[in-house]
Amino acid sequence: MKALVLIGGFGTRLRPITYTVPKQLIPVAGKPLLYHVFDLLPRDLEEVVLATGYKAEIVDAYVRAHPPPWPVRTVAEREPLGTGGGMKNAGGGMSDPFFLVNSDVVTALDAGDLLALHRSRGGVGTMTLAEVEDTKPYGVAALGANDRIEAFVEKPDPQDAPSHWINAGVAVWSASVLDRIPSGRPVSFEREVVPGLLAQGLYGYRLRRYWEDAGTPDRMLRAQQLLFADGRGGKGLLPHGALGRGPVAAGRGVVASGASFGPNVTLGDGATVEPGAHVENAIVMEGVVVGREAEVRNSLLGPGVRVAPGRRVVGETLGEGAQT
Ligand code: GTP
Repeated sequence: MKALVLIGGFGTRLRPITYTVPKQLIPVAGKPLLYHVFDLLPRDLEEVVLATGYKAEIVDAYVRAHPPPWPVRTVAEREPLGTGGGMKNAGGGMSDPFFLVNSDVVTALDAGDLLALHRSRGGVGTMTLAEVEDTKPYGVAALGANDRIEAFVEKPDPQDAPSHWINAGVAVWSASVLDRIPSGRPVSFEREVVPGLLAQGLYGYRLRRYWEDAGTPDRMLRAQQLLFADGRGGKGLLPHGALGRGPVAAGRGVVASGASFGPNVTLGDGATVEPGAHVENAIVMEGVVVGREAEVRNSLLGPGVRVAPGRRVVGETLGEGAQT
């Protein structure tokens, strides 16, 4: 069994951080988002194929330096091909069936269960579904008997949404779906291909635990809280000499003696939080310096950001090297 991971998007909603760091490598609860996605996959896969595009060489280098438990191959798009185009471009030699995973979802899932359900129902695909209040940014499923998906509408207007169950970004598909994707041009799998597959039997797998799409700053911070609460952020101990309360996932060489923390913080390698400063509900990437008595809350700070002493940073997303 193989898995295909879609990782070629621009991550525009996380700019300016994503101008230099691909979304999937932003650390969430102590490790890059992509590695939380990897954790969802079974350990005995034959191969994982990464359909990359934007910042492909950075993703490739990182994955080589931090190898996951299975062989990984990256297939980069020269121009963004969309989800379907990316699948087509990278999907040569896929297993039948295969896992398809979006690289920005945070959830708790037993992939073995998902596969077993797929096999027992025998359709063309089984899509994990999450129940959300606001369906607008997602693909929404109408469910029939045995959770068969009877209609699938991508990003509908609220009044047209057939339910609150949305495509959660992890699925099992028969390899035959790759034949249904036109080649050589951008294709949205969800808009152009999925509706035409319903007649072959597409089923839903309802997620009963947490789910978040970490595609915006607020949702990425929410995803971090969920991961910490699920124990997936490591021990979460406060850095040496720090005050306040964790969980805090601190990288190597962090200096934070005399600083204080609220819950849910990631500190990248070599970050410094000076005495009297306070950091809470935040992602602070490598090499950041938070000056004395400064305050950082509900924010994402890209690599090397400098926060001046006494400054308040609340609800901001700052790109690499920014000074405030
Ligand atoms: P935004 O620009 O903020 O919307 O983020 P995004 O570009 O990541 O888009 P979105 O969150 O809708 O993408 C869902 C998933 O599909 C993510 O895992 C993306 O990396 C992936 N994806 C989006 N577009 C492409 C593409 O053109 N090629 C490939 N290979 N993957 C894509």
